[in-house]
Amino acid sequence: MQVNLAEAIALLKRGEVVAIPTETVYGLAADASNEAALGQIYAIKERPANNPLIVHISDSGQVDTWAAEFPPLAKKLAQVFWPGPFTLVLPAKSSVSSTVRAGEPTVALRVPNHPLALQLLKDSGLGLAAPSANKYTQLSPTTAAHVASGLGNAVSILDGGPCQVGIESTIVSVVADEWRLLRHGMISEAAIEALAGKPALKDNKPLPKVPGQHLLHYSPHTPVQLFSDRAALLEAAYALTRSHAALLIGPGKEPACAVIRLPAQTNQVAEQLYNALHQLDALKVKQLLIELPADTSEWAAVRDRLNRAGYQD
Ligand code: TXA
Ligand code: MG
Repeated sequence: MQVNLAEAIALLKRGEVVAIPTETVYGLAADASNEAALGQIYAIKERPANNPLIVHISDSGQVDTWAAEFPPLAKKLAQVFWPGPFTLVLPAKSSVSSTVRAGEPTVALRVPNHPLALQLLKDSGLGLAAPSANKYTQLSPTTAAHVASGLGNAVSILDGGPCQVGIESTIVSVVADEWRLLRHGMISEAAIEALAGKPALKDNKPLPKVPGQHLLHYSPHTPVQLFSDRAALLEAAYALTRSHAALLIGPGKEPACAVIRLPAQTNQVAEQLYNALHQLDALKVKQLLIELPADTSEWAAVRDRLNRAGYQD
């Protein structure tokens, strides 16, 4: 059910959930200080309650409401990457709902770069907890139509058009002057490293629970097979007798089946990726053949999502 900005604000203030647009993917938003509203998010997503949520805020002036510390390194990253597809995990104030934090001592914060989302955050004055607006482990939505088909028509949706970035935010945790990369996104590790002036800590400390790190994530319903080059994909398609379809990246030969071909540019692949997977899934073939882009840092976020889509339990 579509709602407008004023209706979305009224619903959120009443403790209801609303699917909202961001530049990455649509989020299922609720007042981050309202326990009942937060419970609705977990119920609708069918998501385990031990997965923490990102709190969306209107600007970096709001960080102190949620975080106990805002170290200079985090400030520097926020200044450059906000508003944008970038999430900071910082030590939480004790006042932050433990439902939002899922018991972690930290809170994840993001200023989204979408005009409607920013307007909503400013006008409502709320911090909005918002995971991607899909059921747990399913494909993330990048249009209002994806949200409605994944969660049903009963959910209120603020339509802000198709998402321009297309894959979920980069997540970075900062403690004092060290940083860790918790999830790849379109703000690259290299860009963060350049600004931070030092590489990410890569220790083997158990990371906080990040459902983006759950392997069976971002999955279409159709079984997926991944290929690191076109020749191997063509060969497999040729030999396959059950129905199949393919996702290709860049120019070149294609198999004799339904094909979605994405352009060879990273930003455009990210923008179109989930829509392509939603479309291929809707074909209800027995097998999806997916070509992986090159194993370079530029493609890290896209490869990460495709590898998870291709993970078979
Ligand atoms: O682009 C995005 O980040 C989108 C849009 C809606 O903002 N949101 C999104 O939410 O992808 P979700 O719930 O699907 O993923 C949020 C990620 C999860 O992997 C979660 O574990 C992590 O953020 N996260 C949240 N709070 C955390 C915390 N305190 N420590 C570590 N990770 C945290
Ligand atoms: Mg998600």
